Amino acid sequence: MRETENNSITSILQSFDAALGPMAGVSDMAFRRICSEYGAEMMYTEMVSAKGLYYNNANTERLLELNELEFSTGAQLFGSDAEIMALAAERISGKGYAFIDINLGCPTPKITKNGDGCALAMDAAKLEKVVRAVVKASAIPVTAKIRLGAGGVLNYKENALLLESCGVSAIAVHARTKEQLYSGEADWDKIAEVASCVSIPVIGNGDINSVESYWKAKRHSGCSGVMIARGALGNPFLFKSIRESISGRVWEVSFEEKMQTAKRHFFYMCDSLGEAEACKAFRKHLAYYTKNVPFSASARRLIQSAATAKETVQVIDGITAH
Ligand SMILES: Cc1cc2nc3c(=O)[nH]c(=O)nc-3n(C[C@H](O)[C@H](O)[C@H](O)COP(=O)(O)O)c2cc1C
Repeated sequence: MRETENNSITSILQSFDAALGPMAGVSDMAFRRICSEYGAEMMYTEMVSAKGLYYNNANTERLLELNELEFSTGAQLFGSDAEIMALAAERISGKGYAFIDINLGCPTPKITKNGDGCALAMDAAKLEKVVRAVVKASAIPVTAKIRLGAGGVLNYKENALLLESCGVSAIAVHARTKEQLYSGEADWDKIAEVASCVSIPVIGNGDINSVESYWKAKRHSGCSGVMIARGALGNPFLFKSIRESISGRVWEVSFEEKMQTAKRHFFYMCDSLGEAEACKAFRKHLAYYTKNVPFSASARRLIQSAATAKETVQVIDGITAH
């Protein structure tokens, strides 16, 4: 970090309740705004290619659009070329992001075959070079997100110590290996191990989808805060339920509020993506918002052909009226 420390994000990283995790195709500006309205204290963009930025790819640039109200969002970068990662970090530093996160956990072959994501986490020498270059080039705090290991090697503690020595400001740990993908249970004991071996904040991640799982994780792990990804799909309300539970209150969203929020989410998407693209991209979100809702199968069929904002709103209102 070269310039003055970004105090607000630094203090959030030290102690917070819940952050929205990076999700490709999901955690865009509209979804981040909705989650922030419900109390997510920190958010991440989906992973963005450093090479894409280097080559001025328009789609990559678009993933980095930021609402002026966002003050605690981090841009997640993937890549394994130290020079290109540093250039990308320098560019992102000036865009209004609170921090830059380095993706060291993506297990997808499309990413790992280039030495990025999980593959970079398995090559300590290269990892150190990349992380030092990013930290040096970035004017804002740099964080990293890791898994437990890959190919039978559990190197999460070594990597955490390495990342700390390179100057990262916090480490998010998704407590699964590369091979586990999203299966099995996240091992929160391993998150506790990381939290006890480094002195920078550790963000715990994996399987938090209820107030109960939040408390179980938070109590035993010693992490500075938790990261929620899939648990927020169609359920940004979880952030509020968690915050209310911290004040000793029970809060559950009503069906009406859920559908109003779905509509607002859609309008935010129209603002950022334009009507036609928003109609398509919102379909998966509506499926999540209406999971376990009676009539949702027919609504899901109708939404597949909704091509205008008016038609999309009609589907949402139709579900609400039932
Ligand atoms: C649809 C989807 C997209 C994801 N994209 C990313 C990504 O871009 N970068 C990243 O580090 N992790 C990504 N992840 C992993 C999540 O951030 C998180 O680590 C994982 O889902 C475990 O947390 P959870 O149990 O709260 O979902 C993605 C997960 C999902 C389900």
